[in-house]
Amino acid sequence: MREELSRIIAANPPITPRAISQKPVTAHFSRALDTGERGSMQGMARALREQRDRLTWEYGYDKVPPALARKYAYCEILGPRGPIAWDRLILGFVLFAPRTTYPQHSHSEIEESYISVSGAWSENNAAVYAPGSLILNRPGDEHRITIGDQEPCLLAYAWAGPADKLSDPKMKFTAGRRQV
Ligand SMILES: [Fe+2]
Repeated sequence: MREELSRIIAANPPITPRAISQKPVTAHFSRALDTGERGSMQGMARALREQRDRLTWEYGYDKVPPALARKYAYCEILGPRGPIAWDRLILGFVLFAPRTTYPQHSHSEIEESYISVSGAWSENNAAVYAPGSLILNRPGDEHRITIGDQEPCLLAYAWAGPADKLSDPKMKFTAGRRQV
């Protein structure tokens, strides 16, 4: 990841603005940034605040469960679709409302890592992660995310994988699993 970031910085790829888009969960964005700016990831939270009016919040699914549509969205910063154009890595942020469970899923051929910027969250009910925590999901790993009751949660994420997968990741939830 570090080497890839060095390559990106050296290449200085073009920036193509995307259509600005909000989602219901972005009502929690200010609060997530306020909390993030008081924590260990304050530099990232401040940098994101500077770009807050230029972000494209989206769902990534053809069909989003109605409850999740009010409680989740993500924005890409770098990737095949921009705004910073790069075909072998996606960097972005995902925002969750308090009391959200993001259903079980996995990513084929894509390695996913998260750095927690703001809020408390748990993956697979294994532990509660605070800002600054780094979590890695290897390709195919099943995972589900649960957000704490009080605060929204903002995670920075990276997806690394083959260019064809990153340009069309075919996001879908794991079939037949109970969503809790
Ligand atoms: Fe994931």
